[in-house]
Amino acid sequence: METEVITLLSKREIEKMRRAGHLAAKLLYHLSHLVKPGVTTLELNDEAERWTRAHGAKSAPLDYKGYPKSICTSVNEVVCHGIPSARQILKDGDIINIDVTLIVDGYHGDTSKTFFVGEPSPLARKLVKVTEECRRRGIAAIKPGAKIGDIGAAIQEYAESQGFSVVRDFVGHGIGRVFHAAPQIPHYGDRGKGKRLRPGMVFTIEPMINEGTYEVEILDDKWTAVTKDRKLSAQCEHTLAVTEDGVEILTPYPGEDEISGI
Ligand code: MF3
Ligand code: CO
Ligand code: CO
Repeated sequence: METEVITLLSKREIEKMRRAGHLAAKLLYHLSHLVKPGVTTLELNDEAERWTRAHGAKSAPLDYKGYPKSICTSVNEVVCHGIPSARQILKDGDIINIDVTLIVDGYHGDTSKTFFVGEPSPLARKLVKVTEECRRRGIAAIKPGAKIGDIGAAIQEYAESQGFSVVRDFVGHGIGRVFHAAPQIPHYGDRGKGKRLRPGMVFTIEPMINEGTYEVEILDDKWTAVTKDRKLSAQCEHTLAVTEDGVEILTPYPGEDEISGI
């Protein structure tokens, strides 16, 4: 396989990524208030599209490789790329990952979070909490000189120590003017392996953590990825920049600090 070149972004470009990322996080926060029993995933999609246009931005997923909607809504056993639908009505106890990607002034901001619909089961609550801690530990491994494998190792060790598994078939990715670029960032792997991180690298971390097997299947719509055993899956995602001395979260969610963990 050909190794793709990793584009390093300038300070000016990272400022544009910050604009896109902050707006994407603001949209995710806005949508979080709409998540409740009785709401359809299409309603979430349509509000996302309306809000995005009203803020002068563009939904990156819409028409991306034929994807038909503006956001991904992945409920319960759906691992990722769930397609919003008028037939899908949220119910008490569901978990839903909402994944938004905005284009602002040519640059992408990509972020997601898993929300509870009403009251979650203790297991669902634990899975979501562990997934967020996986992302936090992955981010904590990022600094110039560290290796890509350090990120996956930190995530995999923690997920498996909690009795869960890490999805292999989808990975984090370089991002900037393009939605999905080199390098790939696996959420599993070996410390000390892979390419070295350098200031100016910009990529996502988006661990998908499963209750049971890490294996996934793609449904007939060619997009929706579900767990093979139909047990729960959770995910959360940030877009990140490697800085001179560490990492910057380009998609900070209001009220959260994933660097300190508070
Ligand atoms: N936002 C997803 C990611 O984190 C990609 C969605 S691609 C789509 O990479 F086409 F399904 F929207
Ligand atoms: Co992504
Ligand atoms: Co995403």
